[in-house]
Amino acid sequence: MNMNLTVVILAAGLGKRMKSETPKVLHKALGKPMLQHVIDAVRTLKPSKTIVVIGNGAEQVREQIDDSRLTFVLQKKLLGTGDALSVAKKEIKKGTVLVVNGDCPLIRAQTLKNLLTKHRRQNHMLSFLSFVDNTMPGYGRIFRDDNGRVTGIVEDKHATSDEKNKFNELNGGVYVMETEALDFLSMIKKNRSSGEYYLTDIIGIISKTGKGIEAYECPSEEIRGVNSRKELYEISNILNKRTISNLMTKGVTFIEPNTTLVHVSVSIGKDTIIYPNTYFEGNTSIGRNCTIYPGARICDSAIGNEVTVKDNSLIVESMIKDRASIGPCAHVRPSSVIGLDAKIGNFVEVKKANIGKGTKVSHLTYLGDARIGPGVNIGAGTITCNYDGRNKYETVIESGVFIGSDSQLIAPVTIGKNAFVAAGSTITDNVPSGALAISRTKQKNIENWNKRKKISKGNRKKL
Ligand code: UD1
Ligand code: MG
Repeated sequence: MNMNLTVVILAAGLGKRMKSETPKVLHKALGKPMLQHVIDAVRTLKPSKTIVVIGNGAEQVREQIDDSRLTFVLQKKLLGTGDALSVAKKEIKKGTVLVVNGDCPLIRAQTLKNLLTKHRRQNHMLSFLSFVDNTMPGYGRIFRDDNGRVTGIVEDKHATSDEKNKFNELNGGVYVMETEALDFLSMIKKNRSSGEYYLTDIIGIISKTGKGIEAYECPSEEIRGVNSRKELYEISNILNKRTISNLMTKGVTFIEPNTTLVHVSVSIGKDTIIYPNTYFEGNTSIGRNCTIYPGARICDSAIGNEVTVKDNSLIVESMIKDRASIGPCAHVRPSSVIGLDAKIGNFVEVKKANIGKGTKVSHLTYLGDARIGPGVNIGAGTITCNYDGRNKYETVIESGVFIGSDSQLIAPVTIGKNAFVAAGSTITDNVPSGALAISRTKQKNIENWNKRKKISKGNRKKL
């Protein structure tokens, strides 16, 4: 742990332009709240304390970013970034402080580490990130004197066009400072036109004292913030591209990465092939040598090696073991485990089902609350009737069982080892091992039925 380091994330702002009931920092970029991206990046520095300043939608933020390692501090009135840091001051321990604006989800952990290293090496009182990008409007401008010393920051809206022409280095909103710098917070004056206390004013104040201060340039992409839904899309897209190209370097093939979505938390093994229009979400891991065909969506699931997921299948909170095959058009619902070499075929839905090794469930079937052994064959159109309108019951199918097509298994029920269920049966009682269960009306053939039907039709009179 970096005992000496406290992190403060400023996240109380409003985010008016999102036009949303949800606080800006909770909007998700690639499945993860923007604020969480920042929290995850700073966590790699192993700070002894991480403080999050909240204000707008404070309760919602506290609820959704539920993490006992964070200290939340409430900024009652949104009086600007300078005020936000002042509010956090009482929680900050003596040492070094990293202050990060909560609206920069693309910031890289490595960039934060580099800034901290430079800061410590140079013994500065304050170091911060800058960038140059004339396509990104609205950022603070960094002023330097003729010797190149940083002299202050002026917000874009307060800068004259001369100043804008002269200074094109912009403020990234990420600062590392020694706790002594916090003493200067009280010297920040309220900005007359906006009524806010700008944290950026501290740069000019410290510069005047002659203490060490420097801005270090980083790629503009990392600073890119989010103020609107369009920008939310843009940064999600950058994050997605980053994640996919990282996986490509690790040996994953993407047939058309522009149509694939991979959350940052997802891992994919070597030699796996990912077809277009596929989605990998949440806490998902995919093994080696898998093939994931178009239209698949896999959420919070663990997929083994050499697994095939065929077109248009959905897998949620489940585990698929090595060499299993899923789909096309299969739905694997939460708490399911699909065994080694097992097959879940066309239009099959499983829920809270444990499917044994090599078991085949090939077509048009629903298996819910089921424990199914190895080497079982489930015929087309089999249904576990697990729900009586009030409670759910379990179906147990032991190893080697054959269930004929179009059977209904009324749970709770157990089909013993190597038993057979005849096609079209409704099974209400347990079936002993090795038995044949047949439960359907006997077939009756009525001779000449076709002829008689025609006669009766001919007798009818139309109006
Ligand atoms: C700020 C900087 C600007 C910099 C830019 C980088 C100031 C005055 N300006 O501008 O120089 O180029 O970031 O992204 O700091 N916040 C609070 N409480 C408040 C106001 C803001 O917690 O009272 C939080 C916001 O939630 C946000 C962060 O501070 O996460 C920055 O605020 P924002 O309003 O986005 O500042 P910018 O105008 O982007
Ligand atoms: Mg901003």
